[in-house]
Amino acid sequence: MRLTVRDTKEEVGNYIAEYIVKRINSFKASKEKPHFVLGLPTGSSPLPVYKRIVKLHEEGKVSFKNVITFNMDEYVGIPRDHPESYHTFMFKHFFSLIDIDPKNTHLLDGNAEDLYKECEDYEAAIKAVGGIDLFLGGIGADGHIAFNEPGSSLTSRTRIKTLAYETILDNCRFFNNDLSAVPRMALTVGVQTVMDAREVVLVVTGQNKALALSQMIEGGVNHMVTASALQTHPWALVVCDEDATNEL
Ligand code: GLP
Repeated sequence: MRLTVRDTKEEVGNYIAEYIVKRINSFKASKEKPHFVLGLPTGSSPLPVYKRIVKLHEEGKVSFKNVITFNMDEYVGIPRDHPESYHTFMFKHFFSLIDIDPKNTHLLDGNAEDLYKECEDYEAAIKAVGGIDLFLGGIGADGHIAFNEPGSSLTSRTRIKTLAYETILDNCRFFNNDLSAVPRMALTVGVQTVMDAREVVLVVTGQNKALALSQMIEGGVNHMVTASALQTHPWALVVCDEDATNEL
């Protein structure tokens, strides 16, 4: 696992955006593998990354015509067009601002009739396109990746998860600070789904992530800090700002 420190969260965003754009641009499409497959997160940390990629796209420096995306997670039980659904987030901050074919974007459906089948189909869809080339992720204040809350199996795959109380409290800010409005469950890719990606890049910014960052990279690999699994990934990069290094 490599760690790169930048001064501010904007610089972290720029660095990761340019890194991803470089990967997309150096991808050589073939008949067997026509698409670059990108895994994507939501949350406030990746926003500067999306902002910079959109800018590079505006400048004609990258196209998403041959990119397929899979998002990490989605809430269960709020409508797809709810202002805080991850579906809304992705189209607002990214997909509607770039030249990606909406058919090439994949998000778990938290309103699917059969949630178990939805998760199985998601894993199958990832497999069908040859796996994920680069998974971008953030981490929760408790060191979770996607919605793999403390205690999740490190070999988990896409499934339904009950959110930890700390995550519900953290996400309350997006629901007018109304705790009762925060969904209690989500669909999420598993730790193993992330680990299967050829490359993983994590964006970690802010003082509130400092403890999680130190546990994730200085602590042992363990299921109470699920992002720590990345210590064993052959190609993982963590990019953080100065604030996030306070406990290292
Ligand atoms: C949620 C998401 C995670 C994200 C985390 C941190 O739990 N499921 O994917 O990493 O929030 O979000 P933020 O970047 O807003 O701190």
